Amino acid sequence: MRLTFTIQRFNPEVDSIAHPQEIRLDVGRGMTVLDVLIRIKQECDGSLALRYSCRSAICGSCAMTINGSEKLACRTSLRKELERHGHITVAPLRNMPVIKDLVVDMGSFWEKIHDVHPWLVSASRPAREGMAAQTQAWDQANLQFHNVDACIMCGACVAACTVHEVSKGFAGPAALAKADRFLSDPRESASATRARLSALQDEHGIWDCTRCNFCVEVCPKDVKPMEAIIRLRRASLEHGLTTTGGARHLLGFTDLVEQQGRLNEAIMPLKVVGFAPRGLLRILPLGIKMLFKGKIPNPFGHALPGLSHVQALIRRVRRTIHSA
Ligand code: SF4
Ligand code: SF4
Ligand code: FES
Repeated sequence: MRLTFTIQRFNPEVDSIAHPQEIRLDVGRGMTVLDVLIRIKQECDGSLALRYSCRSAICGSCAMTINGSEKLACRTSLRKELERHGHITVAPLRNMPVIKDLVVDMGSFWEKIHDVHPWLVSASRPAREGMAAQTQAWDQANLQFHNVDACIMCGACVAACTVHEVSKGFAGPAALAKADRFLSDPRESASATRARLSALQDEHGIWDCTRCNFCVEVCPKDVKPMEAIIRLRRASLEHGLTTTGGARHLLGFTDLVEQQGRLNEAIMPLKVVGFAPRGLLRILPLGIKMLFKGKIPNPFGHALPGLSHVQALIRRVRRTIHSA
């Protein structure tokens, strides 16, 4: 089968901007996108830069944008891409500086992984003779690492993240999933867990995620980083870390729905910023605009009919969470 492959090329030594290059070659339908890229490099254009190593979806180095989605080239079937899109377009991972062609600079990715201290902070080292008993206890405890250990550090989730796109300081899905892994580890001390969670409350931490779910969709290893972030948020609330805007928003939202059966935009800002004068002044212009556009309901309006059902539902969910 003769195919036209479009590759985004960029050589910082000669190009001011990236440009597409079309390459036509004969390919077999059983090939992967990586197979074709390697053939292009070997037979058509040796200057093409790309990263790969294992060719088996293990090392994470061949992540790139294929037909608009973040994927591992070594496990992306040429046939399936053609059936779905009718063409093959390959570009580097989005939202990361391009070094050359399909190779991106992963420096900030690794820094963020390092910043969450992806190692165990143990209270004490168990005595050698106590290790076997402890290991057996862990086996029986049915530890829940939620598959976050399956991460191969490919960077696809960070490239797809809508918050990372506009806020490069955001810790990002891969690093936060890594932090979540240690929450379930009984070897980590309670003080270390609290310190770990406290560090994630800062700007660019767990509360910045908009829950767009893109990191879950693109992850080739089913790590589900967004769910890890939700677990970190839940654990933060359980540890009493409730002063950030994100935590206050979540708690205020629940309070309002429980009290009135709906969100009340007139009271919600007070729940988030409290009565701090500076915070109130900051949101005042937005409040005035909303008022003139009729977007602020009566803060003392009637409760919705059926409120008791909503409250019963919330109580039931709370009981389920606490008994889990
Ligand atoms: S769910 Fe959160 S972490 Fe995942 S891509 Fe969306 S904003 Fe980023
Ligand atoms: S969480 Fe998934 S997408 Fe993100 S770096 Fe790890 S393996 Fe890749
Ligand atoms: S080459 Fe290792 S994951 Fe694709």
